[in-house]
Amino acid sequence: MALLEVNDLSIELSDRQGTYRIVDGLSLDIAPGESFCLIGESGSGKSVTALSLTRLLPSPPFSYAGGEVRIDNQDVFGLDDRTLRRLRGGKVSYIFQDPVAYLNPVHRVGTQILEMLKLHRPEKANQERIVELLKLVEIPAPELRLKDYPHQMSGGMLQRVMIAIALASEPLLLVADEPTTALDVTVQEQILRLLEKLRRQLGMAVLLISHNLGVVHDFADRVAVMYAGQVVEYGKATEVLNAPQHPYTEALLEAAPRIGSGQHRLQAIPGQVPPPHSFPSGCRFHTRCNLTEPSCSISVPPLHPAGDGRMVRCPIRVPS
Ligand SMILES: Nc1ncnc2c1ncn2[C@@H]1O[C@H](COP(=O)(O)OP(=O)(O)OP(=O)(O)O)[C@@H](O)[C@H]1O
Ligand SMILES: [Mg+2]
Repeated sequence: MALLEVNDLSIELSDRQGTYRIVDGLSLDIAPGESFCLIGESGSGKSVTALSLTRLLPSPPFSYAGGEVRIDNQDVFGLDDRTLRRLRGGKVSYIFQDPVAYLNPVHRVGTQILEMLKLHRPEKANQERIVELLKLVEIPAPELRLKDYPHQMSGGMLQRVMIAIALASEPLLLVADEPTTALDVTVQEQILRLLEKLRRQLGMAVLLISHNLGVVHDFADRVAVMYAGQVVEYGKATEVLNAPQHPYTEALLEAAPRIGSGQHRLQAIPGQVPPPHSFPSGCRFHTRCNLTEPSCSISVPPLHPAGDGRMVRCPIRVPS
């Protein structure tokens, strides 16, 4: 049975110009212990999707416009506030791009881990467990480093501390939203390898969010590719990467060399993800697609099964 199930989730955003559907009919599932990647350019709706899993989006400006999220067989939209607070940072933990923004500069890192333990694992809220968590994230000399303040640590070390805080609750799902974007390339690779090691060692599932399809090679069992609020391709990572079927996935792959390969960016996709108030009609990618035909601008193509759990939203590549 799936640990996380998202069924036909839609999220709207309201501003002075109107109300826009920024996540549209998104479905995905993640098995216990699985490694899943959500990929797409900036503005495609990845973070909004991640935050919505535990109802962390502020309303207004966001509102849920339909669908269902189930975590560990609980209907997230039906939970009372107390259960929801236990879920966040409990069964589901998050790490984000900028650890500095989430750490308190005036408290030692050990104290910040202790606070999380008190909240979610009070029986383990002690120095021994803090050291154990710092060891898990491979921070050298943990007995000394737990006394550091955030400003005494490098960006890579701070992200390790954030991971230790996220692990304190012994989550079933760790959501890592662009966890390496702010780090330099060698550190990026170390953090991704650490996440992969922890996933295997602890048996938790990981949802890794990235704008770089290159990270998927080494990391994901399965992948969902998002464009302008919609999933355009979904399936096993090896299949999606070796034989992308959606023109957007193909373009992303050309733009994203494999991490650690020493290759430089090959080719950027021309143009940008359109803002929600000007999503084009029909296939949202048709304005940037080199396969586009007149019919592409008429109606939104459905996600069509392409065998072995694969789904593709392109009527030219995968006709219904
Ligand atoms: N707090 C906010 N207020 C208004 N609009 C927002 C807010 N957060 C996100 N959006 C809009 O929602 C859409 C989806 O944004 P989201 O942050 O989920 O994208 P993303 O895929 O995570 O991009 P990135 O790779 O840059 O992190 C975008 O059009 C964005 O401008
Ligand atoms: Mg984001």
